Amino acid sequence: MNKKYIIAFDQGTTSTRTIIFDTQGNIQGISQKELTQHYPEAGWVEHDPNQIYQDQKETFETVLKETGIHSKDIATIGITNQRETTVVWDKETGIPIYNAIVWLDNRTKDICKTLKNDGLGTYVREHTGLVIDAYFSGTKLKWILDHVKGAREKADAGKLLFGTIDSWLIYKFTNGKHHYTDHTNASRTMLYNIKDLKWDDTLLSALDIPKSMLPEVKTSSSSFGHVQYKNIDIPICGVAGDQQAALFGQGGSAEGIAKNTYGTGCFILLNNGKDFVSSKNGLITTLACSLPDQPKNYILEGSIFIGGASIQWLRDKMQLINQVKETEHICNSIPPLKDLYVVPAFAGLGAPYWDANAKGTIYGITLDIGKNEIIKATLESLAYQTKDVINAMEEDSGKPLTWLKVDGGASANNYLMQFQSDLLNVPVDRPKMIEITALGAAMLAGLKAGIWTKQDIETIREVDRIFSPKMDSKTRTQKYTGWLDAIKRTRTIND
Ligand code: G3P
Repeated sequence: MNKKYIIAFDQGTTSTRTIIFDTQGNIQGISQKELTQHYPEAGWVEHDPNQIYQDQKETFETVLKETGIHSKDIATIGITNQRETTVVWDKETGIPIYNAIVWLDNRTKDICKTLKNDGLGTYVREHTGLVIDAYFSGTKLKWILDHVKGAREKADAGKLLFGTIDSWLIYKFTNGKHHYTDHTNASRTMLYNIKDLKWDDTLLSALDIPKSMLPEVKTSSSSFGHVQYKNIDIPICGVAGDQQAALFGQGGSAEGIAKNTYGTGCFILLNNGKDFVSSKNGLITTLACSLPDQPKNYILEGSIFIGGASIQWLRDKMQLINQVKETEHICNSIPPLKDLYVVPAFAGLGAPYWDANAKGTIYGITLDIGKNEIIKATLESLAYQTKDVINAMEEDSGKPLTWLKVDGGASANNYLMQFQSDLLNVPVDRPKMIEITALGAAMLAGLKAGIWTKQDIETIREVDRIFSPKMDSKTRTQKYTGWLDAIKRTRTIND
């Protein structure tokens, strides 16, 4: 009997989901659980790895029950995940020795400072494609080994394993049989040489990390073991970090395609082809989803730490809105803003500024400013931050951006998408399928499992709406100049 469905596990920063696709790429069912965020100290963010696994398992079982789809009809599973988030567990018991340290957590700023002072900046850029920052896994892993009692000894004795969330889920779902990761996730650790495709001994030694802890790195579309459910073995055939999976789902296995995902943060990725290009403008170089027998592609990425999270801040902390979706109507109901800017540097500034000490700021408040204006300025900050990254991308790649593909929760906001198109002066292309990250992981798995060919997956994405630029160039320049001024005043380090 032909298998008819493909499952994606989508383990994100704020939620854990299981989605079932049919062979046309249509969603047949979704189950989702919110993920508890732990903030033990200012700047620290943790997740419970056991909750992550349990939630993934529960959503998997729920979606099968709710759709009535039998596990024997599932051809394969693809996993996509929040990247960089670091888990260390005991090799024998499978029990984590500390909470997962989340990508947003910047407790390791000082370790990064030391690495920079030791002159490792250029080495890191040339070998891993990254900048030295607390964002990536390497210093988080070092922190766990340095701070959890007995961890260093156990690690040296080969008794601990490290993984990003993909590795952790593979390990748990295969009952501890496999310790794997894929190229996209490995490239976010600051421990992986993305030119030679191997763990980097110099960096492992600089951070004092034993190689025995690290997972085997595999092609994103390959065999990662089996999930057993009701006596049926379902193969895991695709694994990728969520941003690279989204680029893949958007058709970004081809050079020159750029996408922005408006999630917790905003992540702009450009497939820059087969050659490693090191950014001179504050971007990072990272690996695209890899396919068997195909050369690796390099991505230029601009990672913006706070995107949709700033809208949640308006709702949860400022209580200016009840629901995120109200923002579109509010933005449309008031006149264009004049010189009001919210810079949501709530976790420092990521690309292209990399300023871990920056704090959120609001500039340009006058007596006529009320809550609606603050809401609008917060939403617009997603578009301004995106423009900062696209400018850097154009400089690095030497090519102007002509088209931007978008996805993620906030891409549903028509005001934001029109403003984005106006600010960039290029069309913004939103697909019908907003779950493009999960679709990307399903495609990787479906390719390996023989459900789809490369030609099939090119036809799955359909356009929902294209936003064309309407703003005149004088207004565009004025607005963006004001933003750059606000950024200058927010930064703690100015060039
Ligand atoms: O690099 C962090 C990124 O992978 C997080 O993505 O969708 O969980 O906000 P998301």
